[in-house]
Amino acid sequence: MKHYPYQIDSLESYKEAYKQSLDNPAAFWGDIARNFSWMHSWKNVLDWNFEEPSVKWFDGAKLNITVNCLDRHLEEHASDIALIFDANDPEEASRHISYQELYDEVNRMALVMKARGIKKGDRVCIYMGMIPELAIAVLACARIGAIHSVIFGGFSARSVADRINDAQAKAVITCDGAYRGAKQIELKSIIDDALEQCLSVQSVFVVNRTNTPVSMIKDRDYWWDEEMLNIPLGSFCEPEPMNAEDPLFILYTSGSTGKPKGVVHSCGGYMVYATYSFVNVFQYQLGEVHFCTADIGWITGHSYIVYGPLCAGATSLMFEGIPTWPNASRFWEICEKHRVNILYTAPTAIRSLMGLGDEFVESFSLQSLRVLGSVGEPINEEAWQWFHDKVGKGRCPIVDTWWQTETGGIMISNIAGITPQKPAFATLPLPGIFPELVNENGNVIEGNEVSGNLVISHPWPATIRTTWGDHERCKQTYFSAYPGKYFTGDGALRDKDGNYRITGRVDDVLNVSGHRIGTAEVENAINMHQGVVESAVVGYPHDLKGQGIYAYVIYQGKHNESQDQLRSDILSTVIRIIGPIAKPDKIQFVQGLPKTRSGKIMRRILRKIAERDASNLGDTSTLLDPSVVDSIRQGAL
Ligand code: WT7
Repeated sequence: MKHYPYQIDSLESYKEAYKQSLDNPAAFWGDIARNFSWMHSWKNVLDWNFEEPSVKWFDGAKLNITVNCLDRHLEEHASDIALIFDANDPEEASRHISYQELYDEVNRMALVMKARGIKKGDRVCIYMGMIPELAIAVLACARIGAIHSVIFGGFSARSVADRINDAQAKAVITCDGAYRGAKQIELKSIIDDALEQCLSVQSVFVVNRTNTPVSMIKDRDYWWDEEMLNIPLGSFCEPEPMNAEDPLFILYTSGSTGKPKGVVHSCGGYMVYATYSFVNVFQYQLGEVHFCTADIGWITGHSYIVYGPLCAGATSLMFEGIPTWPNASRFWEICEKHRVNILYTAPTAIRSLMGLGDEFVESFSLQSLRVLGSVGEPINEEAWQWFHDKVGKGRCPIVDTWWQTETGGIMISNIAGITPQKPAFATLPLPGIFPELVNENGNVIEGNEVSGNLVISHPWPATIRTTWGDHERCKQTYFSAYPGKYFTGDGALRDKDGNYRITGRVDDVLNVSGHRIGTAEVENAINMHQGVVESAVVGYPHDLKGQGIYAYVIYQGKHNESQDQLRSDILSTVIRIIGPIAKPDKIQFVQGLPKTRSGKIMRRILRKIAERDASNLGDTSTLLDPSVVDSIRQGAL
């Protein structure tokens, strides 16, 4: 018997499932949801309208996702390994945490938080390195119904403060420091800076990871270890009964305006969809080791390190470090050491490892690998081929998984070994996902061999529910461009067989090394630098990062620094305001920016110049001062 009754196991069963989902989506998802553990069943599988938008899956049902991630596995699989931890330092012993142990630790941490007054509905910000305590913290929040907001450890104090304030978080869970390759990041000190501006935070829990001296504030800061000692091992924390539609977490992501928005996911629908997509796309078989290289600070880590795998009773590998440290064999060493079966990573990592030479991967047989996965940005054919030949040794299917923070789980992807793969194509939608291409007028483009903007016409269980504190913004951003449909912000084409190829963002959002960054956010940060009058940021093709950040800056400072000095000062400002991931790759100083008579910057022109494709700039007649274009072109980097 199949371990997961809803696992697709042939091309026929994919087609059958897709057809069923199309005929009756509610019946389709209701049948899948019945395989999970609920405290109380739902009234309706689905109520929705995309106008408001209002999307409710399994409303009225009660559950706690941690019961599905942990308690449910104890009877038969208590000693199975839930998490494998591979530390940054390859010499440090790895850790194997069984479902029983993870359950025990989550219960204790949940009780620690309760004892400090944290309760259902409170927001908890988590700012940690990739250590098991991060997964424990996430699950402990879910256990008591606190809404977690994980913030990637690469964001600055100011970015952290903005997110904490937006969510009005009551508590923070952090570490003294984090190891990342040869570097150490002082997380607690960044939190201390951030909290200068945050009045909502009442308690801070600090994991000792790096033995870094930290300042601990009385009656606010508590050591994780000491707190845990107050709760005897084996203590049980009653799982908070959550409505299926209660928020499970907030995850901030960048958009085309300056301010990141808090994407909200629900308890019930998200659980069903993360697990369903995990089990199907990767064709997970019980006992296998799944290695997703993302950070839990991003949605990929939420869905495919923590929630999806654990609900499925899988073994999920957490890696603290980076692929190139101490050398470019690190991933392959981990795969051999822990007999990894599924490796899910990003094109940017593949390209950087490919660039460092085949010798780092060739000496590894990588026999345990069965499935490879790619996520975060379009994978170019060269990287796809290298991944396939050198890592997969020609034997492993590659799933190219397209999805977004807002979609909660994989939407368009081949199913490993079951539906056909095609390099650079995400291929076909999962059952229950109904993508469409639309033109500028909002008309649906029928047929194949066409391209347009990618929309989804019907809700799926992990649909974004709202943007925290600002439902109107959710509506404007995703449900207004094409009324009645969810707009992804991506462009795509459909080939003759109906396969989708994602061509990239059609809005002012960049994808740099798989990280989403709004051009307006970077501009705001640059504009904060003393002497900067105005700036405009665009993306350009970058061999390793996919897209690089190109900034045009008008500077009128009084100091006589060299341009190089000024560039590095501006970089420091961007790092301070947002974090290192938003650092421009190129800064060109300009006298003016190409603007229309109404004062709008013509980014199309700036993009062409940055792409070194300035031979035909199209119509520039609407520009206020067409001569600025020539001078920008001459100074292009
Ligand atoms: C954007 C979403 C989904 C988790 C990681 C990123 C791009 C994502 C693919 C892919 C082409 C992709 C899209 C999307 N993207 N996966 N397989 N092929 N593009 O999540 O930060 O929310 O970014 O990443 O442009 O809109 P995110």
